[in-house]
Amino acid sequence: MAPPRSRLLAALLVLYACTVPPPATAAAANVPITTCRSFCGNITVDYPFAQHPGCGHAGLRDLLFCINGALMLHLPSGSYRVLDVDYAYRGLTLHDPAMSDCRALDRTPGGRGNGFVLEPWREPYLAPDPDNVFLLLGCRATSPLFQGFPDRHLPCRNVSGMGCGDYLACPAWDDYYDAGGRRAPGGDDAAGAPPECCALPWAAIRAVNVSRLECEGYSSAYSLAPVRAAGGAAGWAYGIRASWTLPESNRGFCGACRATGGACGHDMESHADLCLCGDWNSTSNCDSSADAAPSAGAAAHSPDAIAAVRWAILASGLTSLWWQYASRSNLW
Ligand SMILES: *[C@@H]1O[C@H](CO)[C@@H](O)[C@H](O)[C@H]1NC(C)=O
Ligand SMILES: *[C@@H]1O[C@H](CO)[C@@H](O)[C@H](O)[C@H]1NC(C)=O
Ligand SMILES: *[C@@H]1O[C@H](CO)[C@@H](O)[C@H](O)[C@H]1NC(C)=O
Ligand SMILES: *[C@@H]1O[C@H](CO)[C@@H](O)[C@H](O)[C@H]1NC(C)=O
Repeated sequence: MAPPRSRLLAALLVLYACTVPPPATAAAANVPITTCRSFCGNITVDYPFAQHPGCGHAGLRDLLFCINGALMLHLPSGSYRVLDVDYAYRGLTLHDPAMSDCRALDRTPGGRGNGFVLEPWREPYLAPDPDNVFLLLGCRATSPLFQGFPDRHLPCRNVSGMGCGDYLACPAWDDYYDAGGRRAPGGDDAAGAPPECCALPWAAIRAVNVSRLECEGYSSAYSLAPVRAAGGAAGWAYGIRASWTLPESNRGFCGACRATGGACGHDMESHADLCLCGDWNSTSNCDSSADAAPSAGAAAHSPDAIAAVRWAILASGLTSLWWQYASRSNLW
């Protein structure tokens, strides 16, 4: 009867042969869906977003963080609570606790609220929606907003039916004027004072930096439906609606990667698209071992190197098995 150790070894070898695909062919990966997908509270974080480094699209890297069950979006201008991620419409709904709404103004002479400022490299991938209105409050006459416009507030306008006319009718302003607010609504008088409120779409400024624009605060609203709710600005949804855009080429890349069992990600140094195939990465998909990306670590991780290691383990196992049989059978 064979000693237990060699029977165990034989069993392990059989198991190994059964579970490991033949090393000569590049097998499609079957990367668990949880490799890059995660949850924060009741929000799913999935491609093109991710909380794991190397997952998701590079244009949206280092963006979402789960803090005490709240999903937060971090930008140079500050942190925003993510209320919803709509993967079908590629939309994000954000909330900035430091912004004014219809019930309360939040403003200080030095500027209050984060506004919305993106890193220049992220601009092609993320932007507030064209239907989102930014309402800049209490901006000084010297504000860059009013420079270059002989008519002073030429840039201010309604966005998707939302504008300062309705916003200035909010209850928040009653409290403000009761408390000795600076100017009367529409205080665009002979003194040439700038308007108390200036509404703009994102495309008009491309960076809402409240202090640089010399404003005291801001609000932001978006329309949920094409037809406006009655009740003016009290019926608006306050927050920031942003959407993401990926390069056209990404769709095909990511589709092929997933179809071969991989997870879409990116190279953490070059930021190029990368298909994560489990123990190796591909610049195309998990069926093309010829496109293996240079390994991130020092150790060899290409499919060929892995195959070589597997063969070496198999060979050493067989050798030791043979050696045990040989010594027990007194072949020497
Ligand atoms: C998450 O839960 C909150 C209440 O806890 C709810 O208001 C919100 O709509 C939920 N969001 C999603 C995306 O299900
Ligand atoms: C594959 O890419 C991911 C993301 O860039 C990285 O974390 C991982 O270490 C890479 N794996 C290998 C084997 O190089
Ligand atoms: C906003 O503007 C101020 C003043 O110009 C500047 O110091 C600050 O860095 C800007 N913030 C961002 C996030 O760009
Ligand atoms: C903006 O909307 C308000 C209220 O609907 C309207 O009275 C005003 O004329 C509009 N302003 C412009 C410039 O369209």
